[in-house]
Amino acid sequence: MKKICVFGSLNIDMTLFVPHFNLPGETLTGTGMSIFTGGKGGNQAVACARLGAPVKMIGCLGDDANGAMYYEKLKEEGVDVSGLKVCRDITSGMAFIEVVPEGENRIALAVGANGLLTEEVARESAAAIAECGVYMTQLENPLEAIIEGMRIAHENGLTVVLDPAPARPLPDGIFALCDVVTPNETELNILTGMPTDTLEEAEAAARTLLARGAKMVLNKRGAAGVLLVTADACRLIPGFKVNAVDTTAAGDSFNAGLAVGLADGMDIEQAIRLANATGAISTTRLGAQPAMPTRAQAEALMAEQG
Ligand code: RIB
Repeated sequence: MKKICVFGSLNIDMTLFVPHFNLPGETLTGTGMSIFTGGKGGNQAVACARLGAPVKMIGCLGDDANGAMYYEKLKEEGVDVSGLKVCRDITSGMAFIEVVPEGENRIALAVGANGLLTEEVARESAAAIAECGVYMTQLENPLEAIIEGMRIAHENGLTVVLDPAPARPLPDGIFALCDVVTPNETELNILTGMPTDTLEEAEAAARTLLARGAKMVLNKRGAAGVLLVTADACRLIPGFKVNAVDTTAAGDSFNAGLAVGLADGMDIEQAIRLANATGAISTTRLGAQPAMPTRAQAEALMAEQG
């Protein structure tokens, strides 16, 4: 299997389980609280490792206790940490998450050391990136660094997968560096300014990203599945039916399944099925990384639901 490089964010998630989302001025008592390792980059790296792929993480932690704990956690999970930087006099990134009983979440971020993943760090990592076959990135670090990392990956022939989360309008040039872009409905709307509620609307929006240079758009539509859009195809690949309790990191898990499938030589539809199964299982458990399945668990769900 080809090695996967994840370039991205590392957060400590402070997750509070609440009866409903907090209202302005309201003091709300939670029903439980947990501290998890998270961040979209770290989540993707851990999920890839659980699925059995060789994976290298490039990112920044602070020189605090959280950073030290996260570093050890990634090593335990089997992630190659040689591309991690521990930055001085700054806290590690943190995410403050509310989860309601229906499984939906709200997240507020304190960027911390994630803001120090710069273009220079990307350039210093060029040799490490070049030795991989699949490249995954997201939008929780400075945009110039994200683009520089993608440029290095693209020029070295890696398959580049951009998870445009958290979404923000992006410059055209970034899409020409993408083999696959994986927005959910909201992210696709933010990227394009177009409606994405129906499949027809989502296809039209996705086609504008193809026109801006992306080779393929995978619109993640939760339990409904994934709308795959390329220059000459548009298909809905159905998802799996599960009882969701916490959707935190479902998108990260999906992207990991996709990257592992591609690194393992699957065709795109097989890779999307592995991605759908990985994302679905992650919603049936609490937290981000504790929820991520092994390859055997993902394969069992695929076998069970055909
Ligand atoms: O995608 C989920 C992740 O978003 C959380 O782990 C949190 O850290 C934020 O980055």
